[in-house]
Amino acid sequence: MQTVEEFHKMLNEAVDYIKSQIDFKPQIGIILGTGLGSLVDGIEMVGTVDYDKIPNFPVSTVESHAGRLLFGNLRGKPVVCMQGRFHFYEGYSFQQIAFPVRTMNALGIKTLIVSNAAGGMNPNFKAGDIMLIKDHINFFPGNPLIGPNDNNWGDRFPDMYEVYNKGYQQLAKDVALEQGLRIQEGIYVGLTGPCLETAAEYRMLRGFGADAVGMSTVPEAITAHHQHNKILGFSIITDMGLPDNMHPCSLDDVIGNAEATEPKLRELIAGCVEKM
Ligand code: HPA
Repeated sequence: MQTVEEFHKMLNEAVDYIKSQIDFKPQIGIILGTGLGSLVDGIEMVGTVDYDKIPNFPVSTVESHAGRLLFGNLRGKPVVCMQGRFHFYEGYSFQQIAFPVRTMNALGIKTLIVSNAAGGMNPNFKAGDIMLIKDHINFFPGNPLIGPNDNNWGDRFPDMYEVYNKGYQQLAKDVALEQGLRIQEGIYVGLTGPCLETAAEYRMLRGFGADAVGMSTVPEAITAHHQHNKILGFSIITDMGLPDNMHPCSLDDVIGNAEATEPKLRELIAGCVEKM
């Protein structure tokens, strides 16, 4: 376990390197999930920094994820995008998953937008839906805040009141309505993967009150909330996990559905960013 000082030293090395490559102060961080990489198409790019060049940065291993920070302006707002994210199932620690979120904060972000691919468990959902994340359940076997706490970042025992900013939730609903886009809303439960769930597990998770399940987002959201970022989150429902109506589900289905829905989510996120 690193000390606060060690973590700061690593963070400073990463931030110093990024600042040596690019002179840009982002206000909004965006984490792009599976199959959502082309969300960046609407961004007037200022520059990119590859993860594998940044000191102490984890490096993405999943094929469907590029690995770089992309800086630019989206509808007039300075943003930094993580193209490629880090999952617990890849073998990263929660500290490693938190590192890019701390880095974006040190670069200046006040808002974090997270997106992911998720399995739908609410029977009113269907594959291809976009779900606004209202809240989450941490079903990971850990928490990125375990270990020494830096009181300059946030509280030792942060409350989890309004992790997903209510004003932004309303904004997303307003923008969706303007765009004629019907979106779902619900609770995201995050767990390790890499297996999808058994029918019995989907039934249990639904019983706990979750509407969608995935393998990311929760550690990043906890980190961002701890450092007082305002968070807006979306899931693309890529497959349905209905315990009484199970079908085989392939990675191609998941990525295919994520990519098919991505243009709508891209417009929705751009519309929200414009009004933030
Ligand atoms: N379960 C967990 N993670 C997922 C799923 C799922 O059904 N679909 C996409 N990511």
